[in-house]
Amino acid sequence: MNFQWYPGHMTKARRQMQEDMKLIDLVIELVDARIPLSSRNPDIDELGRQKARLILMNKADLASEKQTKRWSDFFQNKGYYVVRLDARARAGMKDVNDVIMEACREKMERDRKRGIKNRPVRAMVVGIPNVGKSTFINTFAGKACTKTGNKPGVTKGKQWIRLNKNVELLDTPGILWPRFEDQRVGLHLALIGSMKDEILNIDELSLELIKILKENYPGILEERYGAAETAEPPEILMQIAENRNCVKKGNELDYSKAASLTLDEFRSGRLGKITLEFPKEPQ
Ligand code: G4P
Repeated sequence: MNFQWYPGHMTKARRQMQEDMKLIDLVIELVDARIPLSSRNPDIDELGRQKARLILMNKADLASEKQTKRWSDFFQNKGYYVVRLDARARAGMKDVNDVIMEACREKMERDRKRGIKNRPVRAMVVGIPNVGKSTFINTFAGKACTKTGNKPGVTKGKQWIRLNKNVELLDTPGILWPRFEDQRVGLHLALIGSMKDEILNIDELSLELIKILKENYPGILEERYGAAETAEPPEILMQIAENRNCVKKGNELDYSKAASLTLDEFRSGRLGKITLEFPKEPQ
């Protein structure tokens, strides 16, 4: 399969991000916990050099808990602060707040030594489209906090959301774009539904999903669809069509309907908590 994703926006987005980076102390990067590598663009490591770094593994409600833990360790070992999150729920927000304070302690300490008092830590949310940036900002910032309005000088035109007396968040997230160097990236983004389905071959996509499930989540296809997992993916799709009554006029099996159904159930979490890619270290 071949994938394309609005490359025209890249240069503008990158320039904007470079500008915004000058204003902040902490980069809050959102990734999709189901595809923590495919949903991040490592360019942010260059752009966010010398900033404190926090990775939020968002949509953790849809991902395998075991794999989310492994990915957290993976990123922590690389020096990032990491929090798993369901951005739609307020529940994880205290953890985020605590980690922000922790990540910025060094900066606050530096300020204190220089006699600078009460200068809030400034943070910015970044991530590729659809990872939940706006949802996170809305939930995290909530109604309780106030917009600080435009500030004189360098921050002209920027809106900051005051989270508490120590932290301010830029109200517009920075948009990164996925990296398509590896074909798996496009495939993974397509599987989670971050690319337009019209341009994708749904049947082929569902076969890829079935292959990943068969290899990494034994029992799941059998349990949900009564499919024999020893069979090859096309055969499994056929069994799904049969067992879920996906038929066209004339009683012919409707593979495309079975393919859409399987993808839908995966994306909505009805198939279970599933992560599609795994850290390289042994499981
Ligand atoms: P973006 O700014 O990074 O582009 O992402 P945005 O917040 O628009 O979120 C994209 C979609 O992901 C939204 O769904 C949002 O509800 C959903 N989402 C965000 N965070 C989470 C999470 O932690 N878990 C789950 N399961 N979903 C999350 P949508 O279908 O586009 O809209 P809607 O269903 O909310 O109406």
